Amino acid sequence: MQKITVLMIGTGGYAAVYLRELLHSPRAEQFQVTGAVDPYAAMSEYGRELSDLGVPIYDTVEEFYQAQAAELAIIATPIYLHAYQAQYCMEHGGHVLCEKPICATLEDAKAMMATRDKTGLKLAIGFQWSFSEAILKLKQDILSGLYGNIRQIRTIVYFPRNLDYYHRGTGWAGKRRLDTGEWLLDSVASNATAHYLHNMLFLTGDKIDRSAEPKTMEAEVYRANSIEMFDTCALRIRTVKEVELLFYATHAVPMEQGRMPEFVLEGENGTVTLGYENGQEIMAGCLKDGRNISYGKPDADELRKLYCMGEAIRENTPLPCVPETALPHLKCICALAESFPETPEFPAE
Ligand SMILES: NC(=O)c1ccc[n+]([C@@H]2O[C@H](COP(=O)([O-])OP(=O)(O)OC[C@H]3O[C@@H](n4cnc5c(N)ncnc54)[C@H](O)[C@@H]3O)[C@@H](O)[C@H]2O)c1
Repeated sequence: MQKITVLMIGTGGYAAVYLRELLHSPRAEQFQVTGAVDPYAAMSEYGRELSDLGVPIYDTVEEFYQAQAAELAIIATPIYLHAYQAQYCMEHGGHVLCEKPICATLEDAKAMMATRDKTGLKLAIGFQWSFSEAILKLKQDILSGLYGNIRQIRTIVYFPRNLDYYHRGTGWAGKRRLDTGEWLLDSVASNATAHYLHNMLFLTGDKIDRSAEPKTMEAEVYRANSIEMFDTCALRIRTVKEVELLFYATHAVPMEQGRMPEFVLEGENGTVTLGYENGQEIMAGCLKDGRNISYGKPDADELRKLYCMGEAIRENTPLPCVPETALPHLKCICALAESFPETPEFPAE
């Protein structure tokens, strides 16, 4: 079988998760990284490995496509670059797997979708839980009515992050926009814990590849760190179908108070919980008729998204997380940015 040629955009940070798999995992044999774009590639372990392997590395997507082409572009760059790079790759014939969040503005998201529609290429957004077999099985059960109408989902997640986190990479973390004007809206809800906010919208969407539309949102956001955006939030979202979604997330906790994501989903006919036993994720449903369902681990295979993308390219199989799926999350992020032009500091008390 011919390999799927891959352009990797970004080589450090989260891109390392892709490159480790693409360069070292036997199951990634169907892919071949034929080029990379990253002006700072020399600073990352896998950037240097690509260079040692003789894989050409360019500073820009323009330079890459002047010299080469690739069937698939994987974008794992700072948020403000997603829209431009995704559109450029599609315009030059590449399917795109773009990291979450889709981008920073609704206009950019629309432009990405328009380019996808114009080119007929595939565009997936890398929220890995939406590619997880466990989450997809749960969503099937919700869609088939097993839990009846869903009334509420509540999620809590504390990911301790210190100032190194905000100073990583090119220094874009925690920013509202760059000095050059590009929007970022980078916060606890749009980046590290975005998965779990998106997941509640995803689970209550009325098709596999759609998420619920937020109708109203009440929110408190705070910052303990000296950042522009917020490191802590408490959100109450009501969806168009009247499901209440509660989201509590923070980076501003000491290491020992970290909490992996937990959620409780309450439906008319039963409850689903995600919790942990001896550090192992347990996601289980409990129906009012006495049945219990074990769903497996949402984090079992973080890179299933890569293989779903490969299959979508080869077999035209549907993708569970496309721009439309990721858009409701972005709507919440944009609404928060509009509602809080300045982030309140945690009150001293
Ligand atoms: N799915 C996940 O679990 C997950 C986890 C972490 C980050 N992410 C996402 O991955 C993306 C990158 O985040 P990160 O934390 O790795 O950021 P980062 O700043 O640590 O790394 C970004 C990479 O992009 C490169 N880069 C910077 N400017 C570039 C340019 N103009 N062209 C090409 N490459 C450029 C950097 O050199 C670096 O290699 C974000 O969208 C983030 O939300 C996803």
